[in-house]
Amino acid sequence: MSEASELDEIAREIRSCTRCRLHMNRTNAVPGEGNPKAEVMFIGEAPGENEDLQGRPFVGAAGKVLTEAIENFLGLKRSDVFITNVVKCRPPNNRDPQDDEIMACSPYLDRQIQTIKPKVIVTLGRHSTRYIMEKIGKQFRSILAERGKPIKADLGYGEVVILPTLHPAAGLYNPNLRKYFEEDFRTLAGLLGREKDKDKRPSIFDFLNGSRARGKEGNSDILK
Ligand code: URA
Repeated sequence: MSEASELDEIAREIRSCTRCRLHMNRTNAVPGEGNPKAEVMFIGEAPGENEDLQGRPFVGAAGKVLTEAIENFLGLKRSDVFITNVVKCRPPNNRDPQDDEIMACSPYLDRQIQTIKPKVIVTLGRHSTRYIMEKIGKQFRSILAERGKPIKADLGYGEVVILPTLHPAAGLYNPNLRKYFEEDFRTLAGLLGREKDKDKRPSIFDFLNGSRARGKEGNSDILK
């Protein structure tokens, strides 16, 4: 089966999944989207309100930050990479996904990884970072301790580099954190051999124009 057909099959199973309580309140499950042969895969936390309504990952304000970073720092399009979440259905009121929900959903993520076989996996925030680090036998401390440090790993299909970074919503809530997210995207550009001229690169948070995120994007305690 081709990578695209395998991903379609996984998405079909996710859309009819009842393995955990989160299926009860979903409008749409959010399997993920992008290039079936992507070199880089981004793994977020869980769908928020916009994602639940559209059935697509990272389409709200945090998604705008992620998309701008992919374009400005990597010179890639969203459709060049694969974007998904550790949990595929929206937790009520954007609460944190619970451990049993992550465990119930993780076989889908594992199959997506094994199908795409990315060279680099970027974990966005503590939930996906903790899940992937524990999977490769590493202890997760905190997202601020782990971010920006690439980890070479073997997930069964060859070498992959895991790069933990902050969740893109973190910089919306706390402007002091934006520099870390941007720094990690520079590291990512280096890993992919896609560094660009630093001075020509606009800030990925410029679109905010001084406005503030309003809480639809997940939890403001995103760094816990
Ligand atoms: N936050 C996430 O972690 N994932 C999304 O898809 C959207 C917001």
